[in-house]
Amino acid sequence: MPNTNAYILGTGRSYPEGVITNADLEKMVETSDEWITTRTGIKQRHKAAGGEYTSLFAVRAARQAIEKARIDASDIDLIICATVTPDQILPATGCLIQAELGAHRAAAFDLVAACSGFLYGLTLANQMIRSDQSRYALVIGAEILTQYVDYTDRGTCVIFGDGAGAAVLGQTTGERGILSSRIRSDGRFAEQLFSPGGGTRLPATAETLSDGMHFFKMRGNELFKVAVRSMTEVSTEVLSEAGYKPEDIKLFVPHQANQRITDAVADRLGVEESKVYSNIAMHGNTSSASIPIALDECVEAGTIKEGDLVLMASFGGGATWGAVLTRW
Ligand code: UT7
Repeated sequence: MPNTNAYILGTGRSYPEGVITNADLEKMVETSDEWITTRTGIKQRHKAAGGEYTSLFAVRAARQAIEKARIDASDIDLIICATVTPDQILPATGCLIQAELGAHRAAAFDLVAACSGFLYGLTLANQMIRSDQSRYALVIGAEILTQYVDYTDRGTCVIFGDGAGAAVLGQTTGERGILSSRIRSDGRFAEQLFSPGGGTRLPATAETLSDGMHFFKMRGNELFKVAVRSMTEVSTEVLSEAGYKPEDIKLFVPHQANQRITDAVADRLGVEESKVYSNIAMHGNTSSASIPIALDECVEAGTIKEGDLVLMASFGGGATWGAVLTRW
């Protein structure tokens, strides 16, 4: 019997209407459009308004993915919501999404792997599908990062934005689907990107809030180097495991962390610029949402077509990283 494989049947994306431009940030912190553009590639990022929450955008993205996959929500038996900005501590945002979609047969949970969350989710869903424990899996990356951004800290506030992306995976026995994937982490880098307050270690109090302990703290410069090295290494691994070379890739869709990280990884891998997808100018860094948003944009624009070899790679807080190679 041929091996069962998992492939992406449909994608979707959603983000808030609100936008913060570099010009807006110039009025908030000591920065400039020129610095942000040359150091990150970002021109604007979406920002949720008061009353907008993570699952709102996740559900919108998921509905599109389900419709494009031509299945019913009730067919889904696995929902993985990758997020570091859940609606609330309990229950899982995945369960809230499940209820909203009416996907009552699914097992739903949240996955915390920061910017690598979507690729962690794809990797798990792939294994569930291959082992026949799941027929249709919904993997979502959804974040309202701007709720945790300190708009007096120019090192982080220029980077992060909000949004959600989703993908429905199904079974195939054909030549398409996820060919190889790898996920990795190293907790020794935990304090390079973290939010110290609000958990059991430093519970939320009036003091932790006024000290801004719930905001993201980032040592961006140190993370930059680890990101470039680990994304390059893990991409090389998944390519060689599947028996491909960088020149075989039709499209490289990296996590949109910083244009200079994307350029450095592509350069080290030897992937030519025309095959590298970037939307960071319009969205900033949306953590777990960045890859599924990018995939949906590519499918819609016809940049990804059936049969294309697509490489995805990510790096995020934790530190976490991973890569997935798929035949679309
Ligand atoms: O999503 C996955 C996890 N996150 C990442 O992978 C983020 C990776 N890191 C980065 O994207 C970059 O490190 C940043 C964009 C965050 C910072 O860029 P950088 O080129 O690494 O800058 P830097 O931190 O080395 O700072 C260089 C200078 C400093 O000034 P001095 O000390 O040289 O005078 C900073 O204070 O740039 C200054 N600076 C800024 N200036 C204007 C830092 N942020 C800003 C700013 N506007 N927004």
